[in-house]
Amino acid sequence: MDATAAAHRIKELSQEIEHHNRLYYEKDMPEITDAEYDALFRELQQLETDFPGLALPDSPTRRVGGRALEKFAQVRHSTPMLSLENGFTDKDLTDFDDRVKRFLGLSSSTTVAYVCEPKMDGVAVELVYENGLLAIGSTRGDGVTGEDVTENLKTIRAIPLRLKTAEPPALLTVRGEVYLPLAPFQKFNQEREEAGEPAFANPRNAAAGSLRQLDSKITAKRPLSIFCYAVGLCEGIEFDSQSHFLGSIPKLGLPVNERIRLVNGIEEVLSYYRQMMEERDDLPYEIDGVVVKVDQFALQRELGEKSRSPRWAIAWKFPPRQATTVIEDIVPQVGRTGVITPVAHLRRVEVSGVMVSRATLHNWEEMERKDIRKGDTVVVERAGDVIPAVVKVLTEKRQGNETMLPIPLTCPVCGGEVVRIEGEVAVRCVGLACPAQLLERVKHFASRHGMDIDGLGEKYIEQLLDLKLIEDVADLYTLAEEDFMKFERMGTKLAENLRTAIANSKSRDLSRLIFALGIRHVGEHTAKLLASAFGSLEHLSNATVEELTSVREVGPQVADSIVDFFRNEENREIIAKLSAAGVNPKAEEKRVGGRFTGKTFVFTGALTRFTRDEAKKMAEQEGGHAAGSVSKKTDYVVAGADAGSKLEKARQLGVTVLDEEEFLELMK
Ligand code: IVH
Repeated sequence: MDATAAAHRIKELSQEIEHHNRLYYEKDMPEITDAEYDALFRELQQLETDFPGLALPDSPTRRVGGRALEKFAQVRHSTPMLSLENGFTDKDLTDFDDRVKRFLGLSSSTTVAYVCEPKMDGVAVELVYENGLLAIGSTRGDGVTGEDVTENLKTIRAIPLRLKTAEPPALLTVRGEVYLPLAPFQKFNQEREEAGEPAFANPRNAAAGSLRQLDSKITAKRPLSIFCYAVGLCEGIEFDSQSHFLGSIPKLGLPVNERIRLVNGIEEVLSYYRQMMEERDDLPYEIDGVVVKVDQFALQRELGEKSRSPRWAIAWKFPPRQATTVIEDIVPQVGRTGVITPVAHLRRVEVSGVMVSRATLHNWEEMERKDIRKGDTVVVERAGDVIPAVVKVLTEKRQGNETMLPIPLTCPVCGGEVVRIEGEVAVRCVGLACPAQLLERVKHFASRHGMDIDGLGEKYIEQLLDLKLIEDVADLYTLAEEDFMKFERMGTKLAENLRTAIANSKSRDLSRLIFALGIRHVGEHTAKLLASAFGSLEHLSNATVEELTSVREVGPQVADSIVDFFRNEENREIIAKLSAAGVNPKAEEKRVGGRFTGKTFVFTGALTRFTRDEAKKMAEQEGGHAAGSVSKKTDYVVAGADAGSKLEKARQLGVTVLDEEEFLELMK
């Protein structure tokens, strides 16, 4: 291919991929299979490697990260990134309002227009758009100079690589907060713990850690997002107020928090604050207060700034979700995958409205690093609805009788072997029959996001295991009402309900079943991808690492874990038992994973054994894909009578040609 043709194809592919990205990430309605998407992506990557000068600055390949850096370059901000003065009480806020009015020479009865914004608990960044293109992205640093994290920021899908406008301004500098929403944060931490990596204490640390990766491929895997909240130096675009700025930039593709309000006077600010306090626990991200800004830029300029913070804004902080309490005990807890976690049993304490009695200490390394001991007085913190964590030990309160919990040498539940895997901080019980693991596996199986078996909670599952009524999750489906009647305090009605709830769960989606099995590294999202890619548990269980990694977002670690899971004889038996009990859901869409995963067929000529549509379906059911024309990428051409130019082309390109009989043979 010559440079002109390459440039043309690169542009075409970039647009096509961005189109499919939007369908996939924004609309959740993909039009092409993952294999097709990957083919487009790889073609673009290859062309960009072959013609490095032709790669577009907003190429979608940037979203997956590039080569790792040695260190970050320094970036000087065009205007300093200031910080904010903090307020904590109603009085701090009314004082702020009084000061603003006094400084502006307004009478105390005037109402100032303020913009109220949630104070995001993340990492402040600056994005510089030159002629519409994202040129530089940096961290705040010391406010004057930050670190160049452009490549990392480009992996964040909420950040446009190019502004959505036909006439971009010469320069637009915006500032905002990069954050990690709570749901992915929890999932991410859980996965880290399962993989034996240290968990992050809160979403802010996780966001900061993710953004400061020298290898942008790692950042690309973290579901970071952004809200923009301030404007810096601009050319060719002007805003006269904060509300004007915030109202304009979403049209350019820059995300703005939808809970931002323009209000009149300090009274309305107070009620905004109260409302946000109430909503705080229901938000999908962590906020630590509200930011109040004078709306008019002319007034902001008049007010100016003190040494490090502007006079026109204040951060009104929420009371911290922290409390001091005592660790009464530290108990090793065995999880579903055998990982043993030290859990602190706390003297019950209220943390901003919620009673807390447990806190995870994550792992021994972390516990030792923070030097957490039984008997210690500690500060606990809760972020969103995340499991509370011990932030620090108040060592000055030590009496001298505090004790450390040593790493267990055997499993505290089954007494079996405990291993510490090389490169992992986790301690793991490897006993397959460990009752603690089994209990956790059944709990996970029956949980709300798993098979959602209504009423089957920990207490009942414990009894089922104690009474040896079940040995694995599949046994649930062969239980009779009489079995439940063996429980303490059980009535016929309740027994009937439990049995019905279990029976009802047979009709759950395939994705739930995959998630419920508790395969390491397979969370809800991955389970959904696998369900639509493989269509049935049987296909998934026979998938190879290669087939698995051909699914978008499934990496080698996840693929290995899936293959290991299904290679295990016990797991295979459980799946057979589930299927025999009628738990055998199929996903609607069947895409990757059959024998023909990633293979392209072209049907041509007059077919007699089946119609072309039927043939297409047959190929697709095995993960193949039917295309309309023959190219180098075609794997098989199935030719009926009087096949014309397509057959000709196949022969020229050396593509395998089959007749109908041979195709049927292949399908067997
Ligand atoms: S405005 C001069 N708005 O809070 C104005 N900051 O304590 C500068 N933050 O470094 C910032 N949400 O990381 C602004 N809606 C918001 C914010 C916000 C979070 C952070 C930001 C800043 C810090 C200042």
